[in-house]
Amino acid sequence: LRQPIIAIDGPAGAGKSTVARQVANQLGLVYLDTGAMYRAITWLVLEKGISIDDECAIAELVNDCRIELTPSQNIQFPVQVWINDHNVTQVIRTVEVTSQVSAIAAQSAVRKALVQQQQNWGQKGGLVAEGRDIGTHVFPDAEVKIFLTASVAERARRRHQDFSTQGQAEVSLEQLEQDIAARDYKDSTRTISPLRKAADALEVETDGLTPSQVAARIVSHYQDRL
Ligand code: C5P
Repeated sequence: LRQPIIAIDGPAGAGKSTVARQVANQLGLVYLDTGAMYRAITWLVLEKGISIDDECAIAELVNDCRIELTPSQNIQFPVQVWINDHNVTQVIRTVEVTSQVSAIAAQSAVRKALVQQQQNWGQKGGLVAEGRDIGTHVFPDAEVKIFLTASVAERARRRHQDFSTQGQAEVSLEQLEQDIAARDYKDSTRTISPLRKAADALEVETDGLTPSQVAARIVSHYQDRL
């Protein structure tokens, strides 16, 4: 019998990462950031100068790469992300990668390879997995499914704050709102496992809530369900 799985899905900037990490810490579960995997592949494609339309070359790349997520003491980046032994923890968060990731995440070979890897990691359960298709596709039998949302304005504001604390180049709120809306549109209209609330997911609207408040709500929902 496998350990429980908590699936957290939702659009960009809904606070999934912070919340999923807190929930995992509080319940002693492993945290799995699936977006980091799509970002890592995207970084590698850009690094190698492969065109994002070259699905064949990208398929070959994704089937032949090694992604690792390792815990670390770094408070700002508590999970270190590696692809083929490159540490890409910080470079996968740039505007360049962020603007291309949805196009690459829509490709069938990419999804197939990464979903397979996520399901392998999740075989024994005991994790909080966060992404776009976790409750609908990756772990459809997860014990707890959460769909996190927030208004576009709130999500842009949070991203803006993330960028300032990370000391990244200044991006305007308007630009962030546009980027987030564009990414949501691509992620929810793609053919293969689009972003969607699973029928049995609990929707949590997070405007005006702190990450700790959202995490507490999820933990109590989890305890009710078990
Ligand atoms: O969550 P994050 O913003 O890091 O995700 C980056 C991108 O990766 C998303 O916009 C989406 O295109 C893709 N993604 C996905 N399926 C997941 C997780 C992320 O398609 N499970």
